[in-house]
Amino acid sequence: MITIDYSLAMAEAVGTAGGLRDPELEAEGKAFERAVRRVVDEAKAGVLGFFGLPEDPSTLRAVDDFAASVDERIADVLVLGIGGSSLGTRAVLHALGGPPELGLTRRRLHLPDNSDPWLLAALLGRLDPSRTLVVAVSKSGGTVETAAQLLVVRKWLADALGAAEARARLVYVTDPSRGPLREEADAEGIRAFDVPPNVGGRFSVLSSVGLLPARLSGLDAAGLLEGAAQMAEACRRTELRDNPAGILAALHVLHHRLRGRSVHVLMPYADALRPFAAWWVQLWAESLGKRRDRQERVVETGPTPIPAVGATDQHAQMQLFMEGPRDKLVTFIEVAEPGADLTIPESSGAFAYLGGKSLAEVLEAELRGTAQALAEDGRPSLTVRVARLDARSLGALFFLFEAATAFAGELYGIDAFDQPGVELGKRLASGLLGRPGYEEAGSEVREAEQSRPSRHRWNG
Ligand code: PA5
Repeated sequence: MITIDYSLAMAEAVGTAGGLRDPELEAEGKAFERAVRRVVDEAKAGVLGFFGLPEDPSTLRAVDDFAASVDERIADVLVLGIGGSSLGTRAVLHALGGPPELGLTRRRLHLPDNSDPWLLAALLGRLDPSRTLVVAVSKSGGTVETAAQLLVVRKWLADALGAAEARARLVYVTDPSRGPLREEADAEGIRAFDVPPNVGGRFSVLSSVGLLPARLSGLDAAGLLEGAAQMAEACRRTELRDNPAGILAALHVLHHRLRGRSVHVLMPYADALRPFAAWWVQLWAESLGKRRDRQERVVETGPTPIPAVGATDQHAQMQLFMEGPRDKLVTFIEVAEPGADLTIPESSGAFAYLGGKSLAEVLEAELRGTAQALAEDGRPSLTVRVARLDARSLGALFFLFEAATAFAGELYGIDAFDQPGVELGKRLASGLLGRPGYEEAGSEVREAEQSRPSRHRWNG
């Protein structure tokens, strides 16, 4: 179903300055074995929940039952959530259901995952509250962006339908026992689904976080889990070269550590995977960018992830990848059989050579040409190849990159599952918004802003 071709990440093809030597990869074998054992042990012990999600049929049953009970007249689903509570859902929707504007899914799903009012205001102006279901997704239940949106949307529903009907239009996806959303759901009888406490937000797409919206839009949630389960089996192998996530993790970490390739590019040659690359950016960045290692030493490490899409970005970022700093490792994703294809008609003149070829052939040639062009300049890449993009292969891709992130965290020696770096900004913003107990944080920002010299400002 999936192959990983990493020949162009190795010295044999791109030279020792650009590629890894086989002994360098083999030398990482022992560290990888420890990494995979630790991850698998923690999964067994229930510490790392994401690893077991594909084998848990209970969530699927619950979301299936619920989706089947939703009134046929509900045409729109508004999903409120941010970060790990929305990026995976968008990736599922786009890859399996097509761009939302085409309206190909059973219900239209909307993901205004920002507190920027621009999109939400437009949606509320256009959607019919009597035909809209609202799914608020927040593992903690306390994320301010999501809470603010939910309050606005709940009033929009209540103004149109009354308080009781508004409650019936709400579904929460949150921690099973804690947090404001759970408390509200319990107190008001709002339907709620669980995010397992041992599954981190950015690793939660295969929980009810991604499965519920997928089912509500009529997509194959079971296929996602099946593909992920198959991949999970391969990701338990302790031999580095047998473990697909191990290969991804080790190549990225070693290229960073030994060749200074600190910028990691994910470049699917598939429009359907554009949001998948955005999902991966959050996964890679928030998991691997850390100030301290596991021994609490300051390391300030982490790769910088860049999303790109082929062939579009050949005309945008490729110049930089080809001739800019030699600090990048590019991972292509190739979809061998696209979901649809178009044949180019015969013509005379400059483009006669294209006649009879398909657009998929053009895309494939672009990918092969780009990988070879990078290689000829000693710039490494690898290709993850899927036969076709369906629920099973997408589930497998999700799991592959999640497991690779967990293993990369181990190889970097950091904790991939926390995100202490985002806390201070949240605390300061809460202070500015007048959250009780955060008054000092608000003053801290205001005082700091006032002390900045006005000569460092340009006023137009
Ligand atoms: O990966 C993470 O933990 C974060 O990106 C969260 O998903 C994000 O901050 C949203 O959190 P919550 O689901 O608690 O609202």
